[in-house]
Amino acid sequence: TKVVLAYSGGVDTSVCIPYLKNEWGIEEVITLAADLGQGDELEAVREKALKSGASISLVADATESFVTEYAFPAIQANSLYENRYPLSTALARPLIAKLLVEAAEKYGADAIAHGCTGKGNDQVRFDVSIGALNPNLKILAPAREWGFSREQTIEYGERFGIPAPVKKSSPYSLDKNLLGMAIEAGILEDPYAEPPEEVFQMTKGLAATPDEPEYVEISFEKGVPVAVNGQSLAPVELIKTINTLVGNHGVGRIDMIENRLVGIKSREVYETPALLVLIQAHRDLESLTLTADVTQYKRGIEETYSRLVYNGLWYSPLKGALDAFVQQTQERVNGTVRIKLFKGTANIVGRKSENSLYSMGLASYGEEDQFDHKAAEGFIYVWGLPTRVWSQKHQS
Ligand code: ARG
Ligand code: SIN
Repeated sequence: TKVVLAYSGGVDTSVCIPYLKNEWGIEEVITLAADLGQGDELEAVREKALKSGASISLVADATESFVTEYAFPAIQANSLYENRYPLSTALARPLIAKLLVEAAEKYGADAIAHGCTGKGNDQVRFDVSIGALNPNLKILAPAREWGFSREQTIEYGERFGIPAPVKKSSPYSLDKNLLGMAIEAGILEDPYAEPPEEVFQMTKGLAATPDEPEYVEISFEKGVPVAVNGQSLAPVELIKTINTLVGNHGVGRIDMIENRLVGIKSREVYETPALLVLIQAHRDLESLTLTADVTQYKRGIEETYSRLVYNGLWYSPLKGALDAFVQQTQERVNGTVRIKLFKGTANIVGRKSENSLYSMGLASYGEEDQFDHKAAEGFIYVWGLPTRVWSQKHQS
C-alpha cells in the first residue's frame, strides 16, 4: 500500500513515516508539505521527509489559493467562531486536505495519513474533508492510536534516525500560517494564567507599540479587500501588509475559552491581525451598503457558516448553499473603510461607498431634511396596532 502523509517537518509528522512503515506495514510513504505562508524553510522540510524515509517529498505552494479561495469567502461571511476566532487554522485544513487528495490521486495512493491527535478539531477537519473530496481513500491517523508521550515520540524517532529537536523545544504547540497563529499548551493550559509576551510573534506588546495613532484605509470590491491606503495589492501582499500594519499597533490578539467539536473546552490564544481587522471593516462596509433585512438575516447565516467551518464541514452541501447566499449579498459591497490604530485598538472612524444607502436628506436633523414627518404617525398607528389590541384585551 501507498500513503500520502500530511507533513510539517516537526517531530510528530516525521515519526509518522517510520511508524506507518514498520508498525502498519505501509510500503511507500509520500509526504506533502503545504506552504500556506507560515514562513518555514520548506526546502529543509522537503529534505527532512526524505531522510525520515519518505519515497517522494512534495511541497505545495498554496498561499495564493489559501487567501483567495478560503480567507476571502470567510471575510465575506464575517466568520468568527463563537463570535471571536476568525478560523485561521480551521480554514487551512480543507485546503491541505484538497492538496492531499490531489496528490493521492496523482500518485495512485490508497490512503491519506495525518499526525493529528484524537482530542482536537483538526482530525475532524481532515477526515471529513478527505471523505468529501474522495470517499474511496482510507484515512490513517497514527497519533490517534500510538499512545506515545512526547518523550516516547522522540525516542521512537531516534531509533529511525529522526533527530530529537535540537533546542529545548518550546512548551507551546503552535500552528502558524499567513492568516495567523494558534498557540496552545504549556502555561496556557491554566485559563487564569496571562499569556507571556514571548508567545506572540505577529503582534507587538503595548509597551512596544507607537505612541501616535495611525490611520489605515482598506478598500473592498464585492466584499473582497483589494487596496490598502489607496494602493491596489495582490491578495497575498494585501494580507501581509495589513498583518504588519496592524500587528505593529498590538492589534490582533485573542485569548479565549473555546468549545471544541469533540466536547473539550480549551484555552486558546491566537494572533490574527489582518483577518480580525478585515472582518471588522467588511462588516462596517456592509452596514452602509446592504439593506437592514439582508444585514440582519446574514448575521444568522454567518453564525452557522462559522460553526460549519470550525467543525470541518467546508465541503458540505449546507456550506455550499450558504456560500451562494453570501456571494449574492456581496454584489454591491464596494467602498473604503478608515480605521484608526492605536495601542491595541482598531476603531473604525469612517466609511464611504459608491453604493452607500445612507441618505443625508433622510438622516439629517438640519435644513436638508427631506423625511416626511407626518407619514410617521400613520405608520406607528399600524405598527403598534397588535400591541394595543393585546393590551385592551388583557390589561383592564
Ligand atoms: N483550536 C484551534 C482550531 O480548532 C487551533 C488548533 C490548532 N491546531 C494545532 N494543530 N495546533 O482551529
Ligand atoms: C490537535 O490535537 O491535533 C490540535 C488541536 C486541535 O485540532 O484543536
